[in-house]
Amino acid sequence: MLTPTEIGKRAHEVMARCRELAACTETPGSICRTFLSPPMRDCHRKIATWIEAAGGKVTIDAVGNLRGLYPAGRNQGPRLLIGSHLDSVPNAGAYDGVLGVMIAVALLENFRGQDLPFVIEVLGFSEEEGVRFGAPFIGSLALAGRLDDQLLSLRDADGISVRRAIEAFGLDPAAIPHAELSTDALAYLEFHIEQGPVLESLNFPLAAVEAIVGQTRTEFVFRGQASHAGTTPMHLRKDALAAAAEWIGAVEHAAKSDPALVATVGKVEAIPGAANVIAGEARATLDLRHKSDDIRQSTVHDLIQTAQHIAGRRGLGLQTRPLLEQPAVQMDSGLIREIDAAIRSTGCQPHRMVSGAGHDAMILAGKVPSAMIFLRTPAGISHHPSETVDVDDVAKAIECGSHLLHRLARSSQFRDRMSRA
Ligand code: HGY
Ligand code: MN
Ligand code: MN
Repeated sequence: MLTPTEIGKRAHEVMARCRELAACTETPGSICRTFLSPPMRDCHRKIATWIEAAGGKVTIDAVGNLRGLYPAGRNQGPRLLIGSHLDSVPNAGAYDGVLGVMIAVALLENFRGQDLPFVIEVLGFSEEEGVRFGAPFIGSLALAGRLDDQLLSLRDADGISVRRAIEAFGLDPAAIPHAELSTDALAYLEFHIEQGPVLESLNFPLAAVEAIVGQTRTEFVFRGQASHAGTTPMHLRKDALAAAAEWIGAVEHAAKSDPALVATVGKVEAIPGAANVIAGEARATLDLRHKSDDIRQSTVHDLIQTAQHIAGRRGLGLQTRPLLEQPAVQMDSGLIREIDAAIRSTGCQPHRMVSGAGHDAMILAGKVPSAMIFLRTPAGISHHPSETVDVDDVAKAIECGSHLLHRLARSSQFRDRMSRA
């Protein structure tokens, strides 16, 4: 086990690496790194240097996921997967996603030369946020064997498909099946900032995630009639943006009716988008989440009906386009117990909580026992440049991860899997 000084040094290095990766951005002066954008290649190169220096071997799979394999004393055997995503939202913070990959690299460095009964695979997913193509989790869906033609045919704002973006990055879509997790995957662990205010309010540095809420993402397109802003009387208009605005108010009203429900219209586009033209078309994205799939689905259904009613009353058309239908996912109970014990070994109070944010762990959980460890988010702010994490909490997370890997090496849940290897 590393000394507190060594762990503290590793924590400072993790923070420095997150800040270094923040420079891999499409928008100098702010952080934005989307699916297979050029800065993602720089990100891969930097991380590969760190993993190879620790004795690991790095490959980039057919959807741009970074895969860092570390034998940890043996060249084959069940794989313990540790990682998170490398892409970001626009104007992002420096820790969402990459912190989990950097903690994974720090754990790999901690165990260098030690004999563990499993191989460690560091994962850096290529697309979790869903910014470029509207649909999230492209990277982890490939590991789950769920990347289908419908997803590969999605197009970005420039009309480039996912399939074409993969080819443009120098990768081969025909090799996507090889990205799927092999049967020797033992478990998946993801360290991630909480991105909310709960742990700070409790003054806890770490928590185990019990479940990740389900989420629906749908695009709503209101179609009216573009016309002159000065000559068209109000009662003769078919204003698509006014209809969308009325509907957005109804979305907020519905979400405020249930404390466990959140609904967001984060992106609105008025077409043609000129000050003196009544919008003929308005595109709005709905992101709706709840821990109950029934409540989530019934609320989405009601909001589609509300949109149809508003459009009908105004003489407009309405089209909806589903982008994501992700049920709520429970994390693995055996791993949660091990995380509780590992957190206790750091001298901290174990805590369990539900994640309101989506994570790659909710996709991997369909394939392999998965669990997450949350780190406190100062001020609870995320998806914003002021997002941060405390270096002492990162040290606690690395210490917790070291205890956790030692516990998993002795765990009865995996022993038979490891002994067969
Ligand atoms: O949107 C989310 O929940 C995550 O940050 N991708
Ligand atoms: Mn995010
Ligand atoms: Mn994230």
